Amino acid sequence: MAARRDNYSKVAIGFHWLIALMIIGLIIFGLLMTNPDMPNRFALYQLHKSFGICVLILSVLRLLWRLGHKPPPLPAGMKRWEVAAAKFTHIAFYIIMIGMPLLGWAMVSSTELVIPTRIFNTIPWPDMPGLPRDKALSDIFKNLHYWIGRATIVLILLHIGAALKHHFVNKDNVLRRMLPFSKTKRGSETPG
Ligand code: HEM
Ligand code: HEM
Repeated sequence: MAARRDNYSKVAIGFHWLIALMIIGLIIFGLLMTNPDMPNRFALYQLHKSFGICVLILSVLRLLWRLGHKPPPLPAGMKRWEVAAAKFTHIAFYIIMIGMPLLGWAMVSSTELVIPTRIFNTIPWPDMPGLPRDKALSDIFKNLHYWIGRATIVLILLHIGAALKHHFVNKDNVLRRMLPFSKTKRGSETPG
């Protein structure tokens, strides 16, 4: 296991922002493509599925990597509920990053409308093994995908709010140490 460090490593930062941007894009695409007035809906669905599978693969790699690499410690002086909320959010994000694509994949693999998934119109992606074509089952996955998608939006807003509070109110380096092009002051975990 790697030694404890003050800052997030380049790998952690790379994974964080690549996946964060893709998930924000997926939510925007998801909301647009399900609007019946939207032109080019079919292409948006295909892009949504392609980026969603990319998030699945990257998130599994990120989780495996993360299990062997502890994050830097949170600032001393954070209240116990704040530490608990941060831990809860991060665990919930890992569940979402893997669970949402699995639900989407299960949905398209069980719906009676068979539209093959081809990643970026090139690589064929199989249906999820063992799932029957069954509308009732597909609707369960669709509803879970819908509601967990809505919960993800709330969680992202809370997460951004917490990061901005650390930066502008507590004035610690929690946000800076996750930014790709920012020099963090070593040992400045204590607020103020
Ligand atoms: C982290 C990954 C993902 C996120 C955050 C995400 C998010 C969303 C959101 C917000 C919607 C709109 C729901 C609505 O308002 O009706 C949606 C719809 C949809 N997603 Fe995903 N998605 C992800 C991955 C996937 C994957 C991997 C697939 C399939 C391989 C997929 C297939 C679909 C489909 C087919 C719909 C349309 C459902 C309908 O017609 O109502 N998604 N997604
Ligand atoms: C879909 C969007 C996002 C997801 C899924 C996400 C997910 C995560 C996860 C899982 C962690 C914990 C990293 C670890 O220890 O393994 C984290 C940390 C962090 N994220 Fe995000 N994030 C997102 C967007 C953002 C945005 C937009 C910001 C900035 C405003 C941000 C700022 C941070 C910061 C500052 C940390 C470090 C917190 C700490 O040191 O404990 N994130 N994020």
